[in-house]
Amino acid sequence: MSATPLHMSPEQLHDYLSRARWFGGKGREFEVKEHRSVPLTESTWIELIEVSYATGDQECFQLPLVAYDWPQDRLAHALIEFVDGQAIYDAVHDREAMAVWLKGFAQQTTSGGLEFHLVGDPELDLSAHSTLFQGEQSNSSVTFGESSQLKVFRKVTPGVNPDVEILEALTTADCPHIAALYGWVSLRDGDDTIHLAILQEFIRTATEGWQVALASVRDLLAEGDLHPDEVGGDFAGEAHRLGMSICEIHLTMRNEMGEWTTDGTSLATSMLARLDSAITAQPLIAEFRDQLSEMFNRLQDIEEPIVTQRIHGDLHLGQTLRDTMAWKVVDFEGEPAKPLAHRQLPDSPWRDVAGMLRSFDYAARAAADDVDPMGNAATQAQYRAAEWRARNQAAFLAGYTEALGRELTPWEDTLLEAYAADKTIYEAVYETRNRPDWLHIPLDALRRISTGQIREQHFDNPG
Ligand SMILES: Nc1ncnc2c1ncn2[C@@H]1O[C@H](COP(=O)(O)OP(=O)(O)O)[C@@H](O)[C@H]1O
Ligand SMILES: [Mg+2]
Repeated sequence: MSATPLHMSPEQLHDYLSRARWFGGKGREFEVKEHRSVPLTESTWIELIEVSYATGDQECFQLPLVAYDWPQDRLAHALIEFVDGQAIYDAVHDREAMAVWLKGFAQQTTSGGLEFHLVGDPELDLSAHSTLFQGEQSNSSVTFGESSQLKVFRKVTPGVNPDVEILEALTTADCPHIAALYGWVSLRDGDDTIHLAILQEFIRTATEGWQVALASVRDLLAEGDLHPDEVGGDFAGEAHRLGMSICEIHLTMRNEMGEWTTDGTSLATSMLARLDSAITAQPLIAEFRDQLSEMFNRLQDIEEPIVTQRIHGDLHLGQTLRDTMAWKVVDFEGEPAKPLAHRQLPDSPWRDVAGMLRSFDYAARAAADDVDPMGNAATQAQYRAAEWRARNQAAFLAGYTEALGRELTPWEDTLLEAYAADKTIYEAVYETRNRPDWLHIPLDALRRISTGQIREQHFDNPG
């Protein structure tokens, strides 16, 4: 290893992690246990930081760095520390450093265990300037001009990152519903490989599915007394096409990556276990325990093998992009909180479908909650948002089954219902920890689920 990287202290790294937007351990007590540097060039390197939490678990985070002999005004916001008279910055903010990374792909650089891989023969514009994506993100994405986007994984683990593996399979199969994979960066670490970043097609003309959906609910709420199918911003056509696209992605994943089976009893067992640990994290869920357990127990009556395959694993409207010609899906990393080994496991595609159905609830509620809570307007807004949710959930499901070429079997109904409940329980724990203001969204949904209202809504005719 070259001597170039400057040595930063655990305290300096701790301080930077605590204020980094992407740091997944925010709010938890942690210490920097150890860290090491992987050099890229004279002045750019990657710091891998092992963090250990008060609870005993550990995570590794990636920090691409760049050092300058004198402070760079344009990077003032990304300054980490001064070390030995040099200014060290978080490199994703720096055009010069990101150009080094892009060149690494073009030259398929390998050095000191670090490897830049290309998929196929993408045309890379090496002169393109980089821009850091400013949205809410657990990783850091940087766009190069209008052609490609680099996603630097912040939390890294030894093993194959599903984003790399799945995108490679879908890119090779020419799936039109993803941003094609151009390449990835890995680090060889003894017998292990750690995936550090991916480079993929940048969907320049896209709008985030979540934003399109929110705008549609807001349009509806702004229209005095029209129904969702009567307003200009109706989303049902989009929801239907999105359902078809998700199904096509699933079918391609199954073709390219194989299929397995599981059985109702083991699904029931794991959902029941998750329910109990969720109740420990959020005691308010206990109110619904009996009905939810009953629902999960019904899975044991499924007699045929349940087909599983690789799935997205963390599917919601925020992972979709509405492009001019098609819906695109991004972020195949799986549920971020799960260990890597779990995220690689095959699961039922109905888990993804349930994730999207839940997301329609979130979009509806997020928009309706913005309405001034005083007076009648808010009640009206909630009622109409619920109409929007039901209509779009049904349209999405109709699109999915249309691409599938058949309706759901009765036991698939049971399965989908259980996955939707399982997801909602997960959300309640997630919101408790991260966004207490939104906790009422999954809790209200759990109330509907336990009174049997969900089934009715999901299978409503989109009209
Ligand atoms: N290839 C792409 N082209 C255009 N925008 C993208 C692309 N990939 C991601 N985005 C945008 O960046 C956001 C975050 O990307 P994502 O891959 O979901 O990152 P994270 O893993 O941090 O959640 C997405 O919600 C989307 O709006
Ligand atoms: Mg994402």
